[in-house]
Amino acid sequence: MEDSQRHPFLRNLSKHRGAPSTAIVIFGASGDLTSRKLIPAIYNLGVDNLLPADFFLLGFGRKDIPNDEYREHARSSIDTFSRRPLNPGLWDHLGPQVYYQQGGYDEKEAYISLAQHVDELEKKLGRDLQLLFYISTPPQVFEPILENLGQSGLAKRNVDTPLFTKVIIEKPFGKDLNTAQHLNQVILHQFEEKQVYRIDHYLGKETVQDLLVHRFANAIFEPIWNREYVDCIQITVAEDIGVGSRGGYYDQSGALRDMVQNHTMQLLSLIAMEPPVSLDPEAIRDEKVKVLKAIQPLKLGAKDSDVVRARYDKGLVGGNPVLGYLDEDGIPDASATETYAALRLSINNWRWKGVPFYMRSGKRMARRVSEIAIQFKRPPGILFSEGTRFDLAPNTMVLRIQPDEGSTLLLNAKVPGLETRTQPVKMHFHYETTFGSNTPEAYERLILDSMVGDNTLFIRGDETEASWKLVTPILDHWKELGIHGLEQYSSGSWGPLPSERLLWKNGHEWRRPGF
Ligand code: BG6
Repeated sequence: MEDSQRHPFLRNLSKHRGAPSTAIVIFGASGDLTSRKLIPAIYNLGVDNLLPADFFLLGFGRKDIPNDEYREHARSSIDTFSRRPLNPGLWDHLGPQVYYQQGGYDEKEAYISLAQHVDELEKKLGRDLQLLFYISTPPQVFEPILENLGQSGLAKRNVDTPLFTKVIIEKPFGKDLNTAQHLNQVILHQFEEKQVYRIDHYLGKETVQDLLVHRFANAIFEPIWNREYVDCIQITVAEDIGVGSRGGYYDQSGALRDMVQNHTMQLLSLIAMEPPVSLDPEAIRDEKVKVLKAIQPLKLGAKDSDVVRARYDKGLVGGNPVLGYLDEDGIPDASATETYAALRLSINNWRWKGVPFYMRSGKRMARRVSEIAIQFKRPPGILFSEGTRFDLAPNTMVLRIQPDEGSTLLLNAKVPGLETRTQPVKMHFHYETTFGSNTPEAYERLILDSMVGDNTLFIRGDETEASWKLVTPILDHWKELGIHGLEQYSSGSWGPLPSERLLWKNGHEWRRPGF
């Protein structure tokens, strides 16, 4: 097709970020993530003229679905879940580029047919395509998919050219250190590390990317971003939703695997890492791994443990009554799975020695909020020591990941009047007010980056292993304890009392996020 014949949305698209002609193959084509996130993300890249001019989407799955029906499924996913409405003109051009291929994940012939299909597309185009495999299936079939991609020759296609094949792997990346190491071996048997994109969608969030800009594009923070000035750092990733229809998966996972090992550890590494020497992906990932490796093993004894786990009981969320975890669908009565985890971490390096890092993540908490709070040391109480007239708060820099994206600096100010009184005040920055709404979704950025071959926002093999190395002893310990020591918290609260005690021991307390 001539460029001039294309829909204006698709014309000259490849010039924007240089994504070459690409076919994305999604394994798990009719899965929830594909409908809710992946297809809408791809569509929104189209709206922004960021898809390559020659772009194909091939859904691969076990169900037998005709092409037309899969196209209709893709269209209705966009209709339901896209952040921007479906533009019929754009869909008329994108729709026919969507195909479906039925096949078992361990069925060799299905991969041969897939390769043939790609060959046919290339023949029609008269040029090679970059293949991007997106593995969005349950983890039990990661291995057969990876092996078959290797054995069918698809993994090594164009390996020595810029069009080399890439593979995106969804979470969960293993369920402990051993399984993560094993998965890395399986992957690296078929692919080179440069081809592998281990996804953590938190890294695609606009505000998470801003952490680096915030830290390293402003000269005022770096001099105080250390043990001399910082009293503690608190990372909160709270959700108000429960496990919903994902009980079967969640009960095998729990908060530590589902959120802490990946999302909150990533936030910690970005906030605590040393300045990278460049914005080169490896330079950034090297620094992230270093900081993960400097985290001390956690204390797990009955006394002075660094971890707290709990599960939600019934309660009120947003004024509505909700069920306790054990009454949710698919949760066995004997479950000992945590829906909340809080950790106290120490980083043994020059910058952070002695500064506690607190992390918590839970479902059915009071509000959905993800934030990082850097709490600074108090000034010496010579002039304004605390008392009735001096209401002092520690200076705190809060970076709000979601919702209400932005940042807040907490300062102490004089209350107007003849008497000298102080009160904490806030300086706010809101993304939406400054830049408007309609920020791209995490998956848009991540799919685009993988198409253009930028793996900065993806997890390297050694990073995921460093993080599993920290959390695996906790998981083993909890497994041994079973139900013993699993705390309860009411739905709609900020977690169990022992997680408050975790901070009191050091003279700190959890912030009430959003305040
Ligand atoms: C996923 C977890 O990785 O992240 C879910 O499996 C969780 O349990 C979700 O709800 C949270 O993502 P977000 O982008 O809504 O904060």
